Order: sequence, then structure tokens, then C-alpha cells
Amino acid sequence: MSSDSGKTLVLTGASRGIGHATVKRFSAAGWRVITVSRQAFSEDCPWEGGEENHVQLDLADMEKLPAGIEEMRKRLRDGKLHALVNNAGISPKLPGGKRMSSLETDYADWLKVFNVNFFATILLARGLVKELQAGGGSIVNVTSIAGSRVHPFAGTAYATSKAALAGLTREMAHDFAPLGIRVNAIAPGEIETKILSPGTDEIVRRDIPMHRLGKPEEVASTIYFLCSPQASYVNGAEIHINGGQHV
Ligand SMILES: NC(=O)c1ccc[n+]([C@@H]2O[C@H](COP(=O)([O-])OP(=O)(O)OC[C@H]3O[C@@H](n4cnc5c(N)ncnc54)[C@H](OP(=O)(O)O)[C@@H]3O)[C@@H](O)[C@H]2O)c1
Repeated sequence: MSSDSGKTLVLTGASRGIGHATVKRFSAAGWRVITVSRQAFSEDCPWEGGEENHVQLDLADMEKLPAGIEEMRKRLRDGKLHALVNNAGISPKLPGGKRMSSLETDYADWLKVFNVNFFATILLARGLVKELQAGGGSIVNVTSIAGSRVHPFAGTAYATSKAALAGLTREMAHDFAPLGIRVNAIAPGEIETKILSPGTDEIVRRDIPMHRLGKPEEVASTIYFLCSPQASYVNGAEIHINGGQHV
């Protein structure tokens, strides 16, 4: 175990994809990881102590959030939290996998996307602020390349929620830093997970200078860096992890 042993991370959306790789990265460094997602603990993403450190919560259900946050707080043995990673995200599609444009997105769908991808993020951070302050912790919000440019598959609700989350990261970096809490974002491009749509091969060939998908582990390493002492003066950054797709 490394010198990070004894630290605790709250991670939303850990059951697969980027979240699963993030659990593995932090666990390998000796962190305790408290996970949050809608389903019960996933046997597809097992790790030591995973089942008892899992909080089942739908982040779209704003009324249940306060009780869920209380549950997370209860699990912190010493009242200290060293990192919060807001990774859970949804990207709904029209039937047949078609992109939901700004002309077609229902208010109810738009609101649900914002509740999970945006509002839950700030409500969790505010709910756990005392514990983050006690732990000298940091926050990482997971945005997306779709937050800064129109993407062929990402819908409007998703893209605008990620743009708003990038703005929120900036505001939080300003407001939380005086409390000793750094706030940053990572913006993945095309990462090899289930969120990808058919047709991504064409993007990889045409738009990504490195001509390959990113790996969840490559995203997890950047999240880990931002939560480590090596990033002690990094605050308010949004790190692009996309093989150069944004250039
Ligand atoms: N993969 C990419 O290429 C890519 C690119 C850019 C940005 N991102 C961002 O990276 C993050 C992770 O992406 P991913 O591809 O790993 O996603 P994923 O495979 O679809 O996993 C999403 C995770 O979020 C949880 N989740 C979804 N809705 C939830 C809710 N209402 N309440 C609580 N938990 C919820 C899911 O668990 P349950 O089903 O158990 O709830 C799951 O663990 C997202 O924020 C996504 O927008 C991904």
C-alpha cells in the first residue's frame, strides 16, 4: 500500500466504465472508496470492501439526496473526506440511438439530465463540504468534450449539462478554495465504454490525431493525479483527455 492509505473517496457512478477504472486506481493506492449509484453493488465491478461501502441512490431524485448524503456522512469513520469525484452521468438518446437535438428534447428529459449531471454535483459537494474541509479534500467533476462543441451523438441536454458543469467547476474553484478544497474537472473525449455510439470509429479515424479511443484507466489516472498532492496548486482547471480531438 502507498502513502495514500487511510484516505477516503466518495465516487458517483462506479459500477462500470470510467467509474469502475477509478475505483480500481484509488483502491490500488490504498484509498477507501464509498460508491454511489442507482443499482445495488455491482458484482461486475468487485473490489475489497465494495459491498459495505456502496450507497444505493438515484441522483435524479432530488428529494432523496439529503438522506443519501447523510448515509455517506455516516460511513466516514473520522468525519474526514479526501476526495469527491462526480462521475455519474446520463446521456439519453431518441429511439434507435438518434441524437436528441434542441428541437426535440422534452423539458422532463432535459431536467432529469440536469439533475443527475449538474445539480446533484453541487448538492453533494455542499452536503459534504465540512467533511471535505476536515480532510483537506479535493473535488473532480467529470465534464465532456461535448460541453464545448457540438458532438454528432451527444444530445443537447447532455451537452448543455456538461457546459454548465464546466462553468460550475470554475465557480466552485473560486468558492471552495478558501476552505482548503480544490475543485477541477476532467473532460473525456471518446473513451472505450458503453456510453459510445455506433459510428465512433469514423470520429476516431477523422477527428482524433492519436487515431485511437481512450482507455478508462487513462481517465482514472488523471482523476487520481488531481486528487493527489502532486496537484496541490491545480484549482479550477478542466483537463482534456481526448487524444487531441479538441485541437
Ligand atoms: N465514455 C465516454 O466516452 C465519455 C466521454 C465524455 C464524458 N464521459 C462522462 O464520464 C462519466 C462516466 O461515463 P461512462 O461512460 O463511464 O458512463 P456509464 O458506463 O454509462 O456509467 C455511468 C455510471 O453512472 C451511474 N448512474 C447513472 N445514472 C445515475 C443516477 N441517476 N444516479 C446515480 N448513479 C447513476 C451508473 O450506475 P447505475 O446504473 O447503477 O446507476 C454508472 O455507474 C459520465 O459523466 C459521462 O458523461 C464519458
